[in-house]
Amino acid sequence: MKNLIVYFSWSNNTKKLVEQIHQKFNFDTVRIERSIPYSRDYNECAYVEAKEEVEKKIHPSIKEVNLDVNGYDNILLFFPIWWYTFPMPVGTFLEQINGFQGKVYLFANSYTNDPQYMANSLKDCKKINAKIKFEAGLFNKSIEEHLKFIGGLK
Ligand SMILES: Cc1cc2nc3c(=O)[nH]c(=O)nc-3n(C[C@H](O)[C@H](O)[C@H](O)COP(=O)(O)O)c2cc1C
Repeated sequence: MKNLIVYFSWSNNTKKLVEQIHQKFNFDTVRIERSIPYSRDYNECAYVEAKEEVEKKIHPSIKEVNLDVNGYDNILLFFPIWWYTFPMPVGTFLEQINGFQGKVYLFANSYTNDPQYMANSLKDCKKINAKIKFEAGLFNKSIEEHLKFIGGLK
């Protein structure tokens, strides 16, 4: 099984988690980055930029991901919850991998532990690309649980 880690992170919680997973498994890892970076100011990012994108379902331009996802069996997609679902640059990435035949596992983290967030994310992913096989990975779990889950992926 060939696994690819794809992640989005703004305040680096997701980045830190992904780095520990990379250390253990050494999977290829790419970061999704908005072409025009979000403001570093929380209020501007959260209440202006991200809020508008989520509400209007705007998929912003992202920096080119220099990698052919079709060479992988699974994409392990890591992201923070933004306004109850995934950040919209993740939506842009999902549009770009149209035709991917493998599975995409979702790994989300957030400030509050509302299980609805994973359900929302899965539903919203399927709306973007109904042909891709999306699977729930983990939501707000420890590094140990991530290592166990990912180590057991078939
Ligand atoms: C724009 C924005 C929106 C957020 N929306 C939510 C939310 O709806 N629910 C929640 O529990 N946390 C929310 N958070 C908190 C993040 O999900 C949480 O801090 C996450 O660990 C950040 O990951 P990162 O450091 O990789 O960016 C939000 C944070 C930002 C910046």
